Amino acid sequence: MKNERKVLRNKSILLGVTGGVAAYKSLDLIRRLREEGSSVKVIMTGAAKNFATPLSLEVASGHRVCADIFSDPMSHITLPADADIFVIAPATANIIGKFANGIADDLLSTCLLSFRGKIVIAPAMNWRMYENPVFRKNLKTLLSLGVIQVGPEKGSLACGEEGIGKMADVPDIIESLKSALANKDLLNENILVTAGPTREYLDPVRFLSNRSSGKMGYAIARAALRRGAEVTLISGPSSLDKPKGVHFISVETAWDMFNAVAGELPSSTVLIMAAAVSDFTPAKMSQKKLEKSEKLILHLERSPDIIAAAGKKKKKPFIIGFAAETGRKTENARKKLKEKNMDMIIFNDVTEAGAGFDVDTNKVVIIEGEKEISLPVLSKDAVADAILDRMVKIRA
Ligand code: C5P
Repeated sequence: MKNERKVLRNKSILLGVTGGVAAYKSLDLIRRLREEGSSVKVIMTGAAKNFATPLSLEVASGHRVCADIFSDPMSHITLPADADIFVIAPATANIIGKFANGIADDLLSTCLLSFRGKIVIAPAMNWRMYENPVFRKNLKTLLSLGVIQVGPEKGSLACGEEGIGKMADVPDIIESLKSALANKDLLNENILVTAGPTREYLDPVRFLSNRSSGKMGYAIARAALRRGAEVTLISGPSSLDKPKGVHFISVETAWDMFNAVAGELPSSTVLIMAAAVSDFTPAKMSQKKLEKSEKLILHLERSPDIIAAAGKKKKKPFIIGFAAETGRKTENARKKLKEKNMDMIIFNDVTEAGAGFDVDTNKVVIIEGEKEISLPVLSKDAVADAILDRMVKIRA
């Protein structure tokens, strides 16, 4: 997967670390950014050195950590000039206040003033400071100038209090950097994505389900969001974190999903059915737990075919379905594409290595019209972008 497209590959990231307890998370942030293929240079404030050592950040980033404005008189110009994006994590009330008011009295604040690209800040502080009107005014100033904010979260703070002020989690910071750098080619789309398995209850405690983790659908929702779409994610039970910024609807059964899709369809321009919807549902759900017996015969009936119903609508959106097959070739998927009036179908043989359920990669064939595009094994994030790329091309 060396050559797959990644938003952060070969990007130069300037990371400002300021004096908050969350500075220890900077090490993890640097490590994960490097895994994405970015190079990271770190600028620390004097106060940050109380929370993370320059040496540890130097080892993590593989670059000398800069902190002193006078050790290299031009670094406040050269460091920002070489960077694609600037992220401050954690961002204290102090650096936010200084930047909002144009104060440049150390290397980090001076670099912020000389940088010409996108800036992401991850505020971290006690809730009293976060809610202080002076701080709010400074934050508002920065946001109105195009600075991108990620977090903070509610939670237990370093002081032992509960409240808002916890720095955003590292994956959320990375997602916001990806979003800041992504091509916004889906700005006018309302994309409805379904993901995960459904559960079909036999009784209050037992259900029929499948191995879907939701990873493919969640990756599509994140990619669409990054590219500027409004995204609604209808998800069956999944242990994955809800992507921040999606309109999230949680469902359990195929009928729940059918109803949720029907409710959202009129305002959607695109439907992407990545959910593994159960094809069968018990004809009758027992209201009581079924007693143990020698034999149990289940009567199943067909569950609603959500995508076929969407395909029959007069004003139908652009429809993308998935065909998870075991050992079959693409003819069957092609048949479904026609029969269910889809615009595109994504075929994958879930028995192939690196494809299908509960893995982070997938190997798919994108089928539309007479065309078949076979992709190699890619991360589900990269597959999501490839599907959206194709969709953009067809809809252009
Ligand atoms: O015919 P098959 O179930 O293989 O079609 C797969 C596609 O149809 C997937 O996109 C899946 O989400 C969708 N589907 C559906 N309703 C069902 C079963 C599958 O919308 N009951």
